[in-house]
Amino acid sequence: MSNAAAPATEGPDRSDAPAHVAIIMDGNGRWAAARGLPRAEGHRRGVEALRRVVRASHELGIRYLTIFSFSSENWSRPASEIGDLFGLLRRFIRNDLASLHRDGVKVRIIGERDGLEGDIRELLNEAEELTRGNTRLTLVVAFNYGSRQEIAKAAQKLAREVAEGRRDPDTIDAETLGGHLDAPDIPDPDLIIRTSGEQRLSNFLMWQAAYSELVFVPIHWPDFDKAALEGAIAEFARRERRFGGLVAKTAS
Ligand code: FPP
Repeated sequence: MSNAAAPATEGPDRSDAPAHVAIIMDGNGRWAAARGLPRAEGHRRGVEALRRVVRASHELGIRYLTIFSFSSENWSRPASEIGDLFGLLRRFIRNDLASLHRDGVKVRIIGERDGLEGDIRELLNEAEELTRGNTRLTLVVAFNYGSRQEIAKAAQKLAREVAEGRRDPDTIDAETLGGHLDAPDIPDPDLIIRTSGEQRLSNFLMWQAAYSELVFVPIHWPDFDKAALEGAIAEFARRERRFGGLVAKTAS
């Protein structure tokens, strides 16, 4: 694996694409069950779908792609399935990091890293370090992530600043709290897609989703591809975004 190849720097200029797409990759288990396969096979095929979607995101001019890989609540699954998901993350970073870097992808991680095994933490750090300077597409991996936990952590940081006399409580507003979340430099998602027909956020980006357009797609994640992404973007483009005002803003 050569991580030294010079990364690509420019993406296509597609002004109709939403800048930031976030995806709840749901339905791996049901995809597998429908075929009489183990759930692990559904997750494995889910990683293949993820590779397709990262490639398609380049082609469609998306600047930020956030994926929900492992939620704070996924710890309640059987230990064997948790092991499968962690194994897939390990393999994804080990096998795909060089090509992501070559393609100009900057990897960012959100979620709680304390409590993860040491080698996973190292892989996550390595992915961020190697790709830090890339600019073509930012891939935000939500791993051991929960939105309530993220907001509580931000509140804790602010409380500490107040307790230590570094902050006046009157200075705390929505912008300040947003600035203490895991990736405050990344713009809010324009479009959130959830596959498999479920229609809820499940503790994903609840703060950042205030004005996101939500698109629910009936297919299971392992079947998701560029055409499905284009379909969701077309639905997004038909929405009228007003951000609480009266005047429609362009969709992207
Ligand atoms: C939901 O399907 C999906 C997940 C809990 C994990 C998503 C993970 C992947 C796509 C593969 C791992 C990706 C990386 C980068 C490691 P589900 O199991 O909830 O499906 P079900 O609702 O049909 O049971």
